[in-house]
Amino acid sequence: MTFAIAIDGPAASGKGTLSRRLAAYYGFRHLDTGLTYRAVAKAMLDTGLPLDDEAAAMQAARTFDIANMHRDVLAAHEIGEAASKVAVMPGVRRILVDRQRDFAATGDGAVLDGRDIGTVVCPDAPVKLFVTASPEVRARRRYHEILGNGGQAQEDVILADIRKRDERDMNRADSPLKPAEDAHLLDTSEMTIEAAFRAARRFVDAALNENS
Ligand code: DC
Repeated sequence: MTFAIAIDGPAASGKGTLSRRLAAYYGFRHLDTGLTYRAVAKAMLDTGLPLDDEAAAMQAARTFDIANMHRDVLAAHEIGEAASKVAVMPGVRRILVDRQRDFAATGDGAVLDGRDIGTVVCPDAPVKLFVTASPEVRARRRYHEILGNGGQAQEDVILADIRKRDERDMNRADSPLKPAEDAHLLDTSEMTIEAAFRAARRFVDAALNENS
């Protein structure tokens, strides 16, 4: 059986970096499920259809190539905004969750990160982490990331945006962002990525020992 690591948390909490490092360390495959919502959003934006056209969004969710999602293209701010709107539609979520479960069930191990991995996609995952950081810390990180990539940004605009996105992700009716009951909470506000990685490894190693 595949060993799954479920990692959830809000935007810019550090869960993506942590997931990639864990996947590389344990030799597991990694799926950033946010990219799947972004891929659907991009398909909708490309065709010019209204974002709330659920039938068209479901069709896009069935057909996009999950093995060929380009993080650099899908990272665009307007795609993120559109993704959080697409993500409220139950029909789209049903299809994407099925595709994410297929990914999780293939190979020896998989790390999936998103908003509902521990609660909906992989409720039986032996390791669940819920990664958080204060909105201010997340806005600062995002701000430095954008500057580091040669872009321009305003920290207060990013903060307002993060708050708006949290609100939408935590309050939607279908699969809102919340920790699974058996998730380990990891608040990275005052942690380096190295410290978060070490803490996460302790949880994973303990679960691997139990499974062996
Ligand atoms: O993590 P991200 O910014 O790439 O996610 C984009 C949007 O997709 C975000 O607003 C929430 C949504 N999402 C979701 O609803 N469920 C997931 N498992 C992953 C992302």
